[in-house]
Amino acid sequence: MSRDKTLVVIGGSSGIGFRTAQLAAERGLNVVIGGRSQDRLDSALARLGAGARGYTVDSASRESLAAFFGHLDSVDMLFTPGASYRVGSFADSAPEVAESPFTHKFWGQYWAVHAALPKLTERASVVLMSGAAGARPVKGGAAYAACNAAVEGLARGLATELAPRRVNVIAPGTVDSDLWRRRPAELRDAAFSGYRAATLLGEVGRVDDVADAALFLLTNSSMTGSTLFADGGYVLR
Ligand SMILES: NC(=O)c1ccc[n+]([C@@H]2O[C@H](COP(=O)([O-])OP(=O)(O)OC[C@H]3O[C@@H](n4cnc5c(N)ncnc54)[C@H](OP(=O)(O)O)[C@@H]3O)[C@@H](O)[C@H]2O)c1
Repeated sequence: MSRDKTLVVIGGSSGIGFRTAQLAAERGLNVVIGGRSQDRLDSALARLGAGARGYTVDSASRESLAAFFGHLDSVDMLFTPGASYRVGSFADSAPEVAESPFTHKFWGQYWAVHAALPKLTERASVVLMSGAAGARPVKGGAAYAACNAAVEGLARGLATELAPRRVNVIAPGTVDSDLWRRRPAELRDAAFSGYRAATLLGEVGRVDDVADAALFLLTNSSMTGSTLFADGGYVLR
């Protein structure tokens, strides 16, 4: 990989997105990260080192996405894990909770690729984020499952429409990321032990492994229209 290639990560200031940006920078790519919090961006940029850039962006806002891509000349690779949404049961969720995964995670990624389009190079590569709970839903996550499945359908559609640009999806299971570390320990421990029991490998996912899988999809020149499950066999058990 070379310094004349640019990877943009929306949601690159934390968790899976940050680690993907870090691995890419170590492998010689130019890295641009986006996220809502300037403080979080600053601390991520300090860890990414010289050459990395970052700009605030909220993927829930088309105006914000347009301003973000306005900072960039061209984009060779785009990864879009940045999303913040709520999940609730089918019977009891208020409409804004039920619609939240689609509003933020689905439409956020849809409009991110749309805003990036004028800057995407002819052979650009895009990786969208779904989640293994699309293929194997958890109770209380029907809209979230549908959203992840929709992201995977979107990638197949975009792979067809934007070719020879490539579009793929990474679908992690539960990953021991910053997202989980910010949650209460009791909730996290219960979720992790349930997840271990629900997988073939008996382990919670590692950020490093998911980032490595995302980078594979971003860089492998024959992958397009695929969903890669980095889930320890969660969907098979
Ligand atoms: N961790 C898991 O177990 C797991 C499992 C399956 C799928 N996933 C998916 O992986 C993605 C990232 O997860 P993670 O564990 O890496 O989370 P994380 O550590 O919380 O990182 C999320 C990143 O996205 C940014 N972000 C959040 N909302 C944003 C928005 N509206 N616009 C732009 N940036 C935004 C955050 O920064 P700011 O808050 O400053 O904006 C941060 O940089 C999510 O889409 C999640 O659904 C995670």
